[in-house]
Amino acid sequence: MLEEFQKIFIDPVDYSPLSFEGERKNGRWYNGCLRSSGGEIWPVREGIPDFIRTEVPSATWTNERIKDLLANGIYERNWRNGRRVLTEGDSGFAEACRDAADRGRPIIDIASGPGGGFMPALLVLNPGAVVMASDAGTPVLHGWKEYFDSQGITLSICFAGFDAMKMPMAPNSVEVITSAVGFSSVSEPLIAFREAARVLADDGIIYAAEAKMEREGLKVLSSKMGWDFEEKFGHRFKMSFPEFFDECGLKVLKERPYFRRKMGPDDNEYAEAAHKIGVELWLGGNVYWLAKED
Ligand SMILES: C[S@@+](CC[C@H](N)C(=O)[O-])C[C@H]1O[C@@H](n2cnc3c(N)ncnc32)[C@H](O)[C@@H]1O
Repeated sequence: MLEEFQKIFIDPVDYSPLSFEGERKNGRWYNGCLRSSGGEIWPVREGIPDFIRTEVPSATWTNERIKDLLANGIYERNWRNGRRVLTEGDSGFAEACRDAADRGRPIIDIASGPGGGFMPALLVLNPGAVVMASDAGTPVLHGWKEYFDSQGITLSICFAGFDAMKMPMAPNSVEVITSAVGFSSVSEPLIAFREAARVLADDGIIYAAEAKMEREGLKVLSSKMGWDFEEKFGHRFKMSFPEFFDECGLKVLKERPYFRRKMGPDDNEYAEAAHKIGVELWLGGNVYWLAKED
């Protein structure tokens, strides 16, 4: 764990301070545990603290699945994909990556997944960037570590396994947060944005590139499948992203289109069902630059 981040962790259960016990490498937590003053214990393995005690249903990665992804070159592909930011020119995502990388402050990426979120692009744009990738599926992060170790990549990257809806960080402690479909991937995005607002420094910034399945296609799919749209998908449309931000005391500094694309059968179970009966589902969203309300 990079020292820039060691000081900001607190216990996600009782919010008490944590102290590290175990083996350090160059001052950095390596193997051991974090103990809270309230008696909670969180393991740290190969520098990666793990704040997940019970599997998060939206983040069910197994070591076997990660081994498969590594063997099939998926981490390699996603790492190299980061270079696209150099040629993407004027996309909203590239602009957010450049802005985040230029700030020169430590960055936490939310729900990074095997895709890596902003991390690969940030490190292409600024190899000196100090970045923490996170995910509630801690095996994903061990996969990234294994990939970087295998490539001899020694950039300032570290990892932490935590639930974005229960961040193990002190209030006002995080300067930059990035998310590429990270907040959109948790079961309750509103709770995750509320957490982001809690931990964000008063002068901090969030770059949230978020996407949603579009309502029209889901309506057609529901009627063809005999599903009750409201029951199945209604909760996803109760609030828009700007309404989440408003509710959490976050203001939108800037907004640009992220992407819009037709979903394929491999995207998720709904896209698979839609594909089988010839219904088009679309996914799309925006990139938001967010700060705390004054
Ligand atoms: C589709 S990926 C997100 C995209 C990813 N940032 C990328 O660049 O490809 C979804 C990730 O969100 C993670 N996730 C789901 N629920 C989460 C939660 N509550 N907290 C943190 N991560 C979560 C999953 O483990 C998965 O790796």
